[in-house]
Amino acid sequence: MIGPAHHVGIAVQRLDSAIERYRALGLVLDYAEEVPAAGVRVAFLRAGGIHIELVEPVDPSGAVARFLAKRGEGLHHVAFATHDIAGELARLEKEGFELVDRVPRPGARGSTVAFLQPRSAHGVLIELVQEPT
Ligand code: CO
Repeated sequence: MIGPAHHVGIAVQRLDSAIERYRALGLVLDYAEEVPAAGVRVAFLRAGGIHIELVEPVDPSGAVARFLAKRGEGLHHVAFATHDIAGELARLEKEGFELVDRVPRPGARGSTVAFLQPRSAHGVLIELVQEPT
């Protein structure tokens, strides 16, 4: 089953200045790291029960770099937690969602993630996140 909202992803040009801006808003930085598998550096800031994820591309040919070039900074994706990411991908495909990731891949902090095509979710890129057990 899809669990609660996990985080909201925001694409940014420069992670350090974005972290300072969202700290000034009042959020607390939880952790930051590079996710080589996704070609990004990310920072997670606490926002109540969920996080705000700031995403800076390090791979100029990656999906987030292309997003920034086309649309500029801004809301990039909404993530939901799950305890069975492979099972959820199979279920959601049956429900008619188009999968970006057929096979889940490594995310931040040992998590496993997979994305759904925005065109199958009213224009919103949806991420599934399974935390390490
Ligand atoms: Co994310």
